[in-house]
Amino acid sequence: MTGTTIRTLREKYDAGEPLTMLTAYDAPIARLVDEGGVDMILVGDSAGHNHLGYGDTLPVTLEEALSNTGAVARAADDALVIGDLPFLTYGASLEQSVENAGRFLKEAGADAVKLETAPGGETTIELVERLVELGIPVQGHVGLTPQRMNEMGGAVIQGREGPESAFADELVDTARRLADAGVFTLVLEGITEPVAKRVTEAVDVPTIGIGAGRYVDGQVLVINDVLGLGGEGYRLSKQYADLDGVIAGAVESYVSDVESGAFPTEENIYEPIDDGGTDAGADRGADED
Ligand code: KIV
Repeated sequence: MTGTTIRTLREKYDAGEPLTMLTAYDAPIARLVDEGGVDMILVGDSAGHNHLGYGDTLPVTLEEALSNTGAVARAADDALVIGDLPFLTYGASLEQSVENAGRFLKEAGADAVKLETAPGGETTIELVERLVELGIPVQGHVGLTPQRMNEMGGAVIQGREGPESAFADELVDTARRLADAGVFTLVLEGITEPVAKRVTEAVDVPTIGIGAGRYVDGQVLVINDVLGLGGEGYRLSKQYADLDGVIAGAVESYVSDVESGAFPTEENIYEPIDDGGTDAGADRGADED
């Protein structure tokens, strides 16, 4: 069990402190994200386009998600690690959904799972109840739910009709039912600020917004967008670094050093008499004379 638990998250929420979440998909980034002090790391199915080279989240498989989640869970000491159930790995049958969700805790070492719910989504609300009863904490996700992109007609911001609309009423009802079913947090994605505010006020679980404005209980961003790593720069996001530039510069310098003979130098070589029989990989990081 990590330092952060659903109980400590609840204490923070009750104290009125904002909750933080970032995505990560591999161990080196997860280690840094964890050390940076986030409360939760989501091993999102946004790995589809940010890590695995797919066009969107739909092709991500259960095995890929489990592998990414395992890497993150092994690297994170403090943050609560949440595995994201990929498209159609839940919902077809209750039995298979429970088995698939359970693998994130049993095999990958996650602390919780996340799943998306459509407006009024009976199937997933029933699934949340079952998972929570069995000891699998669940993070809900409503609003712009990317796994339903085809059904929604694209990445359409939800709630443009306003906070008093029938759409907002249904979203509030869905959020309440998810809270009653036992979600420990609820992601609100791509929702106009007044509607996200209304949902947040209506439920007694922390809401975690992405593109949902200021009046939520916490925020989540995709790590690639935060780091400037192959991202496009979305209005909902904020870029804090330019890893594309840093990596491109490093690779160009390496190529130029090898081509010019500036690397490797005497410092980088092994003398037969000094290497103590170790191989190059085993003591890669060691300082040697
Ligand atoms: O997959 C993901 O990264 C997500 C977040 C954007 C909430 O679902």
